[in-house]
Amino acid sequence: MNALHGYDPARPGYHFLPPANWMNDPCGLIQFHGTYHLFYQCNPSSATWGNMTWGHAESQDLIHWTHLPLALYPDQPYDKGGVYTGCALNVDGMPVIFYTGVHPETQCVAFADEALHIFTKYPGNPVIHHPPSGMEVSGFRDPYVWRESDGLRMAVGSGIKGEGGMLLLYRSTDMFSWEYLGPLFSGDGGTGDMWECPNFFPCGGLWVLIVSVLDRAIYFTGEYRENRFYPGVQGEVDLGGSFYAPQIFADEQGRRVMFGWLREWRNGNAMVKAGWAGVQSLPRVIELGADGRLLFTPAEEVKSLRKESITFADISLDKAFEIPIPDEWSGLVEIEARLLVAESAGIKFLYGSEEAVLTWNRNTGELLLDTSRGSLPSEGAGGTHGARLPLAGGELLNLRVFLDRSVIEVFANGGTCLTSRVYPSNPAGIKAEIFSCGGGDLKLLTAWKMSPVWQM
Ligand code: FRU
Repeated sequence: MNALHGYDPARPGYHFLPPANWMNDPCGLIQFHGTYHLFYQCNPSSATWGNMTWGHAESQDLIHWTHLPLALYPDQPYDKGGVYTGCALNVDGMPVIFYTGVHPETQCVAFADEALHIFTKYPGNPVIHHPPSGMEVSGFRDPYVWRESDGLRMAVGSGIKGEGGMLLLYRSTDMFSWEYLGPLFSGDGGTGDMWECPNFFPCGGLWVLIVSVLDRAIYFTGEYRENRFYPGVQGEVDLGGSFYAPQIFADEQGRRVMFGWLREWRNGNAMVKAGWAGVQSLPRVIELGADGRLLFTPAEEVKSLRKESITFADISLDKAFEIPIPDEWSGLVEIEARLLVAESAGIKFLYGSEEAVLTWNRNTGELLLDTSRGSLPSEGAGGTHGARLPLAGGELLNLRVFLDRSVIEVFANGGTCLTSRVYPSNPAGIKAEIFSCGGGDLKLLTAWKMSPVWQM
């Protein structure tokens, strides 16, 4: 049961979300002494954006989370307009948080105890009062901090109106006084003129930059020398239209783990009535592919949610194949499918008369997720979102699809992600069918009931 309101059929059962009210960006992600900490932007008093505060939860396995008291809230002159997004870093054995205090946008520091249960804002805040003088920036927020041999570096999300997004790079040897080094990297305007929520880290021999811009997250892989980033490849983190503001951290196994905010598409009244808004994606592991592109896969721990399953092999797709999802699975499902596609094929997710359709088309080389008929008219915007996914002649379409009531999270062939939201009247009654145009083969399909981590 939702803590403040009644039963809501759209409320996910195994993706992370707070007990109630609004959530947006993940922030301060860190594993410290074995325990994972997920902080998040939230509004403690409403299911709409505002009053930005850091919510907090901890976990041993990235999947089962314990909700903890609010970590940082707007209670100082320099952050009374909001405690915005930031990061956490182990600085000499102590967890330290860097965040944006509003108003205006300034960069601030807070300390945590070893358990990350007690937080103390640095009395000398803000540590960076304003953007570099002489620069007319479109924003100045979301510090991302890492260590180098000569001290700490901080990249701050920014941009110049009419010119493009930009990351401002700073250096510090004591984490309190910061010297501006110049732009780490600037966009050419094609990716908006304000870059939010930067992430910058080494991966597989290159450096990865991920920023959120307009309504999506983009990445660049490339080289980093003398405080400048030189990108080679640019790509999309998730093209489903609902994934934003991801944050990436290195866990104690050395994996680069990412969570992203899955935004809602219902209107403010519907969110307030439901009593909650915003979900985190499943934890995704990032690796570098051979061509400089990024690969995204669900963290191995997600498999621990799998319960009973049904499996089918070698089925001709001359006619549609219905996956007999039992009603008792109540909308919490993972489907893994390997398909040999002739012209086009995909999965229809059926909720009574509402449906969402995932289609891969050989001619266009695109994977599309159409949610325009997946929601009650009053509830969601819906639409068709897609990603380029060219496959060679005999190459199989490999899909992993996570259905969690209003969440559809798709991973295709290692690197392509599409995440969307749907608000059908009865998401728990989901059925699914594999369809094709021009025939093809369903090589292997397994569907699992996923175990709920939250009680409804
Ligand atoms: C991204 C963002 C960040 C900001 C936060 C405020 O969604 O706009 O730039 O820090 O949300 O909640």
